[in-house]
Amino acid sequence: MKFVAILYPGGESAKSNPELWNCAELALGLRPILASRGHTLVSTSETGPALDSELVDADVVIATPFWPAYITKERIERAAKLKLLLTAGVGSDHFDLAAAAARNVTVAEITGSNVVSVAEHVVMQVLALVRNYIPSYQQVVAGGWDIAALATRAHDLEDKTVGIVGMGRIGQRVAARLKPFDVRMFYYDNRRLTTAEEQVLGARYAPLDALVAACDVISINAPLTPGTDRLFDRERLARMKKGAYLVNTARGRIVDTEALVEVLKSGHLAGYAGDVWYPQPAPRDHPWRTMPNHAMTPHISGTTLEAQRRIAEGIQDCVTRFLDGRPLEREYLIVDGGKVVSPSYSYAYSKA
Ligand code: NAI
Repeated sequence: MKFVAILYPGGESAKSNPELWNCAELALGLRPILASRGHTLVSTSETGPALDSELVDADVVIATPFWPAYITKERIERAAKLKLLLTAGVGSDHFDLAAAAARNVTVAEITGSNVVSVAEHVVMQVLALVRNYIPSYQQVVAGGWDIAALATRAHDLEDKTVGIVGMGRIGQRVAARLKPFDVRMFYYDNRRLTTAEEQVLGARYAPLDALVAACDVISINAPLTPGTDRLFDRERLARMKKGAYLVNTARGRIVDTEALVEVLKSGHLAGYAGDVWYPQPAPRDHPWRTMPNHAMTPHISGTTLEAQRRIAEGIQDCVTRFLDGRPLEREYLIVDGGKVVSPSYSYAYSKA
């Protein structure tokens, strides 16, 4: 069988660091597993038209959210032998899930593999914005010492109102990590937690519009689906509190690209951070690179070395089970038996 893995380029870093498991050179540790069973592995960082010739006769395609190959309906339809699409990470929106379901192609991701990694990044970026860290750091490097210019935009997080949109594995870990900062916390999700879970996390449910109007800081932690595509559009961004901050480590397309630039330029939002863009890799002239008051990173929150090891182990487990004819881990399944089965995605797809 033919396996195609599309992964980020490791370059010089991969030559010196054998822990960069998710780069194309190290190929998630799959080479010995597949070679010993006589299967073919193509590991590449090619995502454009040059990838098409590799996909047409692939049995299994593995793609990473950090360097995504967008596996469209057309690509799925042309790949006549395709049986399995695997996300090396969490968040399978780079696959056309409806097209995979229609072709009875299974889709799975490594659920839980990098949820702590992302939650830590969210906390870092919330603090970076609220405490005005990036301009302070830049001032130090530039040789300056203008306290007033920095303090005029610096706040405590304590006593602020924080909202979490998408209270799943990452959202709950963000809540647990922000609770000790003595904030008021709301969440919105289309599946409510139990009262006991809400009490442990210190977060109360609020309808989305009420949350948006009340919060000083919002963290988006929902998957990209037809229900969340541009959920934060021009109108919703305008309904956020003046001077609020937005952190999005979920997917770039959940926030309207141009409308975000406008609310930052007008000063309606005080800051934006996150690590997800559309498209990825972000082109050099992507407007989010140069908009005011942002603390963005490339898509790295869920790809720490620890996360890369967990992702590689999860992919190896899926591949081994698939080759043995054993079922994949149930929690990993996004599309199975011709249906979107993941509870985090199925609500949107049943309505689409
Ligand atoms: P999860 O499946 O545990 O939680 C997602 C939550 O979002 C669920 O509770 C679900 O009910 C909720 N949700 C779905 N549609 C919604 C909607 N329309 N409105 C409000 N809530 C909605 O997933 P997990 O592990 O928490 O990851 C969430 C997302 O974060 C992933 O789908 C992925 O897009 C992104 N992610 C980003 C990473 C990064 O490196 N930046 C790494 C891992 C995940």
